[in-house]
Amino acid sequence: MSIDQLPEIAQAMVAAGKGIIAIDESNATIKKRFDSVGVECTEENRRAYREMLLTTPNLNEYISGAILYDETIRQKTKDGVPFTKIMMDNGILPGIKVDAGTTPLAGFPGEVVTQGLDGLRERLNEYAALGAKFAKWRAVININIEEGMPSDTCIEANVHALARYAALCQEAGIVPMVEPEVIMEGEHDIDDCFVVTEKVLRSLFNALYAQNVMLEGTILKASMVISGKDCDEQASIEDVADYTVQCLKSAVPAAVPGIVFLSGGQSDDDATAHLNEMNKTENLPWPLSFSYGRAMQSAALAIWGKDIVNNVAEAQKTVYARAKANGLAAKGEL
Ligand code: 13P
Repeated sequence: MSIDQLPEIAQAMVAAGKGIIAIDESNATIKKRFDSVGVECTEENRRAYREMLLTTPNLNEYISGAILYDETIRQKTKDGVPFTKIMMDNGILPGIKVDAGTTPLAGFPGEVVTQGLDGLRERLNEYAALGAKFAKWRAVININIEEGMPSDTCIEANVHALARYAALCQEAGIVPMVEPEVIMEGEHDIDDCFVVTEKVLRSLFNALYAQNVMLEGTILKASMVISGKDCDEQASIEDVADYTVQCLKSAVPAAVPGIVFLSGGQSDDDATAHLNEMNKTENLPWPLSFSYGRAMQSAALAIWGKDIVNNVAEAQKTVYARAKANGLAAKGEL
């Protein structure tokens, strides 16, 4: 794919009433999820679980793409069809997580930077050959106001890496999804979250500009502006929606084809309700949709985990129901 085709792919990712399912958990993270439902974390169980998700009947009514992990993009259904083929045949774009996770930021205790730039050009070319149309890189920003977090250094290091990743993606003909996740854990209030998120997003778009990244072929994956999990005062659905829209309007250029949210540990219902409320706003400059991991999967995982052979159809009904609710929320129609 050439760079000229990236805007079309980006627009398809955020087509009206459609969003992304994030199933790109690393083997360490999916092990934690499997442990929680008592399923052994073998390669075959990971394959079977992802097959259950990806072959959910009619998933493409509400899902435009799925983010895969390195192991998953190479896997096949039990009938021997590559996952990427099943997806493309069903109108679901294959995406790939390409960062290598976080590592402590030297000199800044409590802060992290995402790694994975070394060798990324070669890996992206391989993923493009395997069928990936878009990629994801997640940066992690922790808030601890008393401890001065996030530091400017942490923000700069992370947005620089995000921008270099995005430029490499576009060179390889892959749409970069840039994800600066402001973490919900902490005692901070929603105003603190607003200030930090706005600063991170403004820094990110400066860095993307500096690295010659074409915004029309880039998707932003954002965290919502929300109260810290341990904050005494939890903001209402309406406030989360208002603060988030205001923050995005102040920091995200209208040239960006769309913004999708992560769920970040919100309950399934909250993640859907927040998105629905935001989409009641008139004249938004970009589509606002979802790229949920946990909020798309947790109910289905609980059902599948009880009987991984016989509960496939039952689990898929839940995947479809979550996709439908979030798809309607992406239009403010729930
Ligand atoms: P959650 O929706 O579970 O936060 O996961 C989304 C994701 O892809 C984080 O990188």
